[in-house]
Amino acid sequence: MAKIACFANSKGGVGKTTSCLAVGTCLADLGYKTLLIDLDHQGNLSDDVGRGDEDYTITDLFEDPKFDITKLVYPALNKEEEIDNLNVIPADITLATEARAAERYRHRLQILSDGLKPIKDLYDFILIDLRPAIDLSIENALLITDIVIVPVDMDRRATKGISDLFEVIAEIKRNDKFDYMLVKTKIDVRNKIMLKATEDRIAEMKLHASDTAIRTSEDFKKATEEKMPICYYAKNSKSHQDYMSLTNEILDHMEILGERYKDLKVV
Ligand SMILES: Nc1ncnc2c1ncn2[C@@H]1O[C@H](COP(=O)(O)OP(=O)(O)OP(=O)(O)O)[C@@H](O)[C@H]1O
Ligand SMILES: [Mg+2]
Repeated sequence: MAKIACFANSKGGVGKTTSCLAVGTCLADLGYKTLLIDLDHQGNLSDDVGRGDEDYTITDLFEDPKFDITKLVYPALNKEEEIDNLNVIPADITLATEARAAERYRHRLQILSDGLKPIKDLYDFILIDLRPAIDLSIENALLITDIVIVPVDMDRRATKGISDLFEVIAEIKRNDKFDYMLVKTKIDVRNKIMLKATEDRIAEMKLHASDTAIRTSEDFKKATEEKMPICYYAKNSKSHQDYMSLTNEILDHMEILGERYKDLKVV
C-alpha cells in the first residue's frame, strides 16, 4: 500500500512543487514506484513533467467520482523521455472551476481516497502537490496523507500560516494523528542572519524540521525552462544532492511514522 505525502504551505512560491517533483524523481531513481498528483489548477507540476496538456486530469475524478482513474495516469516525462517508476495525474485550470461540482456529493471528502483505491497498491509512494489554499480537493488530499511536508523559505511569512494549516489538518483528520516535516528551502548559506531568523522561528514554534536544507540555486529555474527535473538537469549538483539527502531523510522518518505528533505552539 502506497505511503502518501502532501506538499503544503499556504505561502506561495516556497518550493512545494519543486520539492514534490524532486523528491518524486529521487524516489523513482531509488526504484520506488511513485505517483505524483497535481492538485493545483496552475498545473505547474504537470507542466514540469511534460503533462500540461492532456485529455484527462484530476478534475475528471472530482466531477465524476466513478471515473476510471487509470485513464488519468500518465508516465512522467524528462523532456520527451518517460521516467522509469514515475507517473503523474495532471491538473489544469478546470480544477478551479468544474471540480466545484463535487460539493454536491455526500461523500465529497472521500473522493480521492475512494478514487485511488484501484491503483494504490501499484505504488510505493503517492506525492501530492497542493496549491496554497484550502478547498475541497485539498481537504480530500489532507484526509488521506500519511505525512505533510511543509517547505519554508527564508521569509517570515513562510511560517506564518503553518499553525492554521495544522489546525485545518487536525480538524479534517479528527482524531487521526498526522505526521509532518518542515523543509527549509532556498537557503542562502551566506546570509547567516536570515538563516538564523528562520531557524529561530521554527524553534520558537517547536516545529520539527528536516536536517537537510535545500540550498538556493539558479539551476531550478533553468531546469524548469528545459522541462527537466532538477535531478536530471543538474545531475550530482548540490541541488540534486540536497534533494537526495532529503528523500533519504523522509524514507527514514516514515518508518517511524506517527511517533512525532505535532506539538505546536499557536502564534
Ligand atoms: N532551492 C531553490 N533555489 C532557487 N530557486 C528555487 C528553489 N526552489 C524553488 N525555486 C524556484 O522558486 C520558484 C517557486 O517554486 P515552486 O513553484 O516550487 O513554489 P510553490 O510553493 O510550488 O509555489 P506555488 O505556491 O505558486 O504553487 C520557482 O521558480 C522555482 O524554480
Ligand atoms: Mg506549486
